[in-house]
Amino acid sequence: MRHVIDKRVPARPAPVIRIRRLTKAYGHGDATVHALRGPSDPRTGGPQGVSLDIEQGDFVAVMGSSGSGKSTLMNILGCLDVPTSGSYLLDGTDVGHLDERQLALVRNRRIGFVFQSFNLVPRTTALAQVELPLAYAGVRTAERRRRALAALSLVGLADRAGHKPNELSGGQQQRVAVARALVTAPAMLLADEPTGNLDSRSTEEVLALIDGLNATGRTVVLITHEDEVARHAKRVLRLVDGQIVSDVRQAPVEGPPPLLGVAVAEVPA
Ligand SMILES: Nc1ncnc2c1ncn2[C@@H]1O[C@H](COP(=O)(O)OP(=O)(O)OP(=O)(O)O)[C@@H](O)[C@H]1O
Ligand SMILES: [Mg+2]
Repeated sequence: MRHVIDKRVPARPAPVIRIRRLTKAYGHGDATVHALRGPSDPRTGGPQGVSLDIEQGDFVAVMGSSGSGKSTLMNILGCLDVPTSGSYLLDGTDVGHLDERQLALVRNRRIGFVFQSFNLVPRTTALAQVELPLAYAGVRTAERRRRALAALSLVGLADRAGHKPNELSGGQQQRVAVARALVTAPAMLLADEPTGNLDSRSTEEVLALIDGLNATGRTVVLITHEDEVARHAKRVLRLVDGQIVSDVRQAPVEGPPPLLGVAVAEVPA
């Protein structure tokens, strides 16, 4: 039999992230903290879990007060932690069914991480930092060097390749971290308060970089406390006590992020 393709519905790729009824609890008994809980079940009062889809190419800011569950959510999305219940499909793969080795591969190949505290290796050059994920991935020396230099160029730091973290500004260190996150060409960039330790100028530099990465097709999920940072996103989620309480679209998934190319010009040199 011939397959009939229905042309009326425009093809839309499956979401990169699909989570269903996801919960995360820490501790036991009376001391249990439901870091992710979603709405309460009307009958039992128990947590129903968080459900969320994120499309390929979206730029999502996750906001919420301290302790609301932002990092918990991010760590699960990044396969750094496992949920207590519920499912997580990353690019259609049920992450819950992967073993530790497979999870490490997913983290290395599919996801780039950027943290508030940069997490750079001390006394190690920018070039070596950026080469590291490629070394784990088994890429040969010459190719590693070439790709790491390309990533450093992309973040505007080709001329700082030989510098160690203590020889770089905060903004430059974070740009090294971004280069390290994207050197493996991951489909998704996860950033937990990437500008939390930066001054306003460095914040704009890093955000301009993230805007550019999203504009060229990378899915970005970014945690922030600041409205100014969230303005860069196409979609803003707000968490309260482990539950998504608002979900606002600021710009369409297709097309550039809302502040692409505008933010840096506003900051005086
Ligand atoms: N390893 C852990 N053991 C026990 N409780 C934890 C653990 N990690 C987080 N929690 C608790 O889970 C809740 C959510 O924490 P989470 O780190 O996700 O918050 P957050 O929104 O990222 O906060 P912040 O803005 O301060 O970074 C908090 O009440 C926290 O105390
Ligand atoms: Mg946090």
